[in-house]
Amino acid sequence: MLERALSLSTRRSPPVSEDMDDVDDKEVGGRGDESKNHRMHFSIAAMRFTHYFTRTGYLWPLIILGILIFVVCSIFLHTRDLVCLKAATSDHISRLRFFGFDDVESDFGSLGVPWCRSKLGKTVEWTTKDLLRGLEEFVPIYETRPIKNNMYGMGFDHSFGLWFIARWLKPELMIESGAFKGHSTWVLRQAMPDTRIVSLSPRHPEKYLKKGPAYVDGNCTYFAGKDFVDFGSIDWGSVMKKHGIKDLTRVLVFFDDHQNELKRLKQAIKAGFRHLVFEDNYDTGTGDHYSFRQICDQFYIRGGGHSCFRDSDEARMRTRRKKIWEKAVDIDELCGPGEAWWGVRGQMRDDFNHSNKAITHSQHFQNSRYVESVLDIYWELPPVAGPSLTHQTRYDPARVTSPIVEDGRYGLFQRLGLSRLETSVFNGYTQMVYLQVSEQDS
Ligand SMILES: C[S@@+](CC[C@H](N)C(=O)[O-])C[C@H]1O[C@@H](n2cnc3c(N)ncnc32)[C@H](O)[C@@H]1O
Repeated sequence: MLERALSLSTRRSPPVSEDMDDVDDKEVGGRGDESKNHRMHFSIAAMRFTHYFTRTGYLWPLIILGILIFVVCSIFLHTRDLVCLKAATSDHISRLRFFGFDDVESDFGSLGVPWCRSKLGKTVEWTTKDLLRGLEEFVPIYETRPIKNNMYGMGFDHSFGLWFIARWLKPELMIESGAFKGHSTWVLRQAMPDTRIVSLSPRHPEKYLKKGPAYVDGNCTYFAGKDFVDFGSIDWGSVMKKHGIKDLTRVLVFFDDHQNELKRLKQAIKAGFRHLVFEDNYDTGTGDHYSFRQICDQFYIRGGGHSCFRDSDEARMRTRRKKIWEKAVDIDELCGPGEAWWGVRGQMRDDFNHSNKAITHSQHFQNSRYVESVLDIYWELPPVAGPSLTHQTRYDPARVTSPIVEDGRYGLFQRLGLSRLETSVFNGYTQMVYLQVSEQDS
């Protein structure tokens, strides 16, 4: 047996040849032998295998097959995980779909999120991390608010936004136009405990005290009640002097008075103010005053502009979304006579919609040009958390930027204390915006 094995192995080595023409019959014959040898080895091995399997009862092949199936499946699942993870971190729309909020991905691309472009592309200094840290700090403060039910006033999102911006900018003076019962005055006070406030509102917040909770600040100059003066009619030079303010870049102005925001911007620029916050930055087709959102929702901006054509994709999407989101508008609400889509049905609204002047598209276009020419920064506060967490149904997520706490991050939502708040406080988001006006030539 051993002899036979040795003789087989010596005959296996073929003659070395550099050229195929040198290969003679002997060699071909040699190869024939070799193939015979291979066949013999194979049949011996096969015999041994069969013998072994019969003895072990096919246990090993089954184990090997099982391991193979396991490896293939885990590779497949791992790849799927990576895809989901990527979608979850980079595309909140996919996530919304994952949470059952219909197919907004294509809608998002078509409806888009408008914004005002700043002259030099400058943006705010704060990051999402800063906002998250701010949220953690603000939730317990918000829980101590004196006005628990602030219907018609700010909810949680905007209260946080105003508090965060005021605290970040650390102004020497804070001005508010539109106080209602005083909730926003209280928010400003929480951000800057010792800074003077100037508050303008036709009805003094103290009047509300007779009926229920309200907030009247002890370090505030009120132009309210019988002393009310509209922001555009105040002699700001003398007010600044009285408050010892020399540098107007150290003043923060907060508007929650439902006036035409273009009008307010021009008045603020005339007075020399540079840091402005507008609470109700209504979306195109909604609201009772002309807003920056509306002003900057331009046809030349990707995703901006609209179609009033009834059979358009946008019309269909709007109808669908209207059924889910309270503030979403359909084509009938969006478009006015002559297919005017800008502002609200082609109107530039003012003063709680007591005035609603129709403007042409070219006027609207000029307004947007003007606004963008004076802005250094346009920053919309994102919603604090995604709709699957807050259960809000008012604003349409297809028209807002990614929330600070994204859908699916319930752990974070809970850690920040947001799950302790009643869901109704999240229903007042209207794209609060912070504007930094560029230095104007006097
Ligand atoms: C939505 S409420 C303000 C809510 C308040 N900022 C809050 O957080 O609760 C609008 C307020 O603007 C006031 N208002 C109306 N016209 C105004 C004007 N021209 N200037 C300032 N405030 C005005 C209203 O009386 C009302 O109190």
